[in-house]
Amino acid sequence: MRTVRKLHRTCAAVVALFVLAHVVNHLAALGGIAAHLRFMDVARLVYRQPLAEAVLLLCAAGQAGSGLWLVRSGWKRRSGWLAWLQAVSGMYLALFLLIHVAAVLAGRTVLDLDTNVHFAAAGLQVWPYQLFFVPYYFLAVVAVFAHLGCALARRAGPAPRMRALAAGLPLSAGVVFSGLVLAALMGKLYPYEVPQAYKNTYPAQAAAARP
Ligand code: HEM
Repeated sequence: MRTVRKLHRTCAAVVALFVLAHVVNHLAALGGIAAHLRFMDVARLVYRQPLAEAVLLLCAAGQAGSGLWLVRSGWKRRSGWLAWLQAVSGMYLALFLLIHVAAVLAGRTVLDLDTNVHFAAAGLQVWPYQLFFVPYYFLAVVAVFAHLGCALARRAGPAPRMRALAAGLPLSAGVVFSGLVLAALMGKLYPYEVPQAYKNTYPAQAAAARP
């Protein structure tokens, strides 16, 4: 148990560094899609280095696997809203990470696409796929903030009010932030049409675009 916890924390440090940059990258979309693309071009110079990417992907797998193990092993002993919020947000993040990273890697290798902002936004703009992708991305970003908030709340001392504040503030910020990013990628803040090549990865759109 102690070794798994240590593995979880070590992987978390690497994944958190990437997620911070990734989240700021998505925040750049508030300044326009060109700003998002420019930010990613620079960030990729670091995380797309083969060694850096291998370490990141290994840590993402380690983080998800160890997290799910921790949730399962402590299931019966878990009590209180903080422990449950941490477990539920962690479980969602672990599953999201596995699906999200597999989708990005498949987009690059199988579909031969540049997996930039258009790749993610296509799912948010094509009906009916947005029914899945809107809650999927929204909850992922909220879960990052909620999970972080839980870690802060545990260090905020035993006073219930301080704990609630330490968890609630990041959670509220996550809801606002996630809503804004999704609104931008869905083309609700300014006009933004995803290029057809990305929309074509969704069967209904490909058929509709055929002459
Ligand atoms: C609005 C929410 C999100 C969107 C739109 C999004 C979009 C993307 C896109 C487009 C890529 C490909 C990057 C590239 O090709 O360089 C990517 C990669 C990735 N994302 Fe996300 N992401 C979101 C949230 C998250 C969250 C919450 C996490 C972590 C918990 C995460 C973890 C990753 C990882 C590990 C990669 C792989 C990096 C690599 O290419 O090696 N993402 N994401």
